[in-house]
Amino acid sequence: MKAVRHHRFGPPEVLVLEEVPDPAPGPGQLLVRVAAAGINYADVLMRGDAGPSARFRPVIELPVTPGLEVAGTVLSAGPDTDTALVGRKVTAFVPNGGYAELALVPAAGAVPVPEGLDDNRALALLSQGATAVGVIDAAALTAEDTVLVEAAGGGIGSLLVQLAVAAGATVVAAASSEAKLDVARRFGAHRVVNYSEADWAGQVGPVTVVLETVGGKTATEALQLLSGPRPRIVLYGFASGTPAEYTAADLFAAGATLIPFSLGRNPELLPDLNRRALDLGTAGRLSPVIGDVRPLAEAAAAHRSFEDRTAVGKIILTP
Ligand SMILES: NC(=O)c1ccc[n+]([C@@H]2O[C@H](COP(=O)([O-])OP(=O)(O)OC[C@H]3O[C@@H](n4cnc5c(N)ncnc54)[C@H](OP(=O)(O)O)[C@@H]3O)[C@@H](O)[C@H]2O)c1
Repeated sequence: MKAVRHHRFGPPEVLVLEEVPDPAPGPGQLLVRVAAAGINYADVLMRGDAGPSARFRPVIELPVTPGLEVAGTVLSAGPDTDTALVGRKVTAFVPNGGYAELALVPAAGAVPVPEGLDDNRALALLSQGATAVGVIDAAALTAEDTVLVEAAGGGIGSLLVQLAVAAGATVVAAASSEAKLDVARRFGAHRVVNYSEADWAGQVGPVTVVLETVGGKTATEALQLLSGPRPRIVLYGFASGTPAEYTAADLFAAGATLIPFSLGRNPELLPDLNRRALDLGTAGRLSPVIGDVRPLAEAAAAHRSFEDRTAVGKIILTP
């Protein structure tokens, strides 16, 4: 089969399409013909020379086929594995190996694609949908809140805007380009701000909640915006590669509660979060933005689009 691999960490161009042996499912595994492989920003961070965020990277043996989630048809089940899903379309997390024609999927985590959702949208609601629902749970938004959504045109951010609007909060969407801000406007953000402008924080005004995923200087500036009776930050990433640099003293001075949210550290939350994201998607109440669908051979260009920040919404590779 064909699979994208990288033999060293480095720029997007380390990703190459190669011929590799077909995988065979072991006990507890399903063999899936991949129709869509999702790109998560985590893939980009794991492929690169990780810089300040290196210590958060799992141990990865090279060469590796990246890709943490797939949608596709189950071809067969391994020994002693339930065959009920053979022939069905599923989405699933994979430990890696998603950017390929065939993938081995843990049977316990395979989720049938619901009627009414296509492969791409079901995939966009897997990791990113579950994360978005989990972040909103952690924020416990009410109609009294004004919430700053960072990276609001991204895969998760565009879902967060929708969920925060549905929770009745006043939503300030921040992103680095007009194309991304347009996505947020389309989903009902009450205000938008381009945080690549030097005075962006001055344009936002006070907020009660920050959904923090950029890190570095942006995180520090966002902290300064917190105000009101129950200010809080839900910290779920650092896309700039530099974690937030505020200290416990800074949080104390702001009277802010810091709520970290990590799906990776809390996998027990996944089945419920994923089901809720899919239910919302099926009901038409959560609409993933499919920004780009590219062939496997263009994996490097797809990763590049995250690094130059032109990627909007969910980016998918298709064999
Ligand atoms: N906690 C969890 O369980 C969990 C799970 C999955 C993902 N995540 C995190 O959630 C975030 C969003 O993930 P995603 O997969 O949906 O990706 P994404 O939002 O589609 O892409 C990453 C976003 O980060 C922003 N960004 C800020 N600084 C950047 C920089 N220096 N280089 C590149 N991008 C930069 C970009 O938006 P702008 O250009 O508008 O700034 C971009 O849209 C990531 O930080 C990811 O690591 C967390």
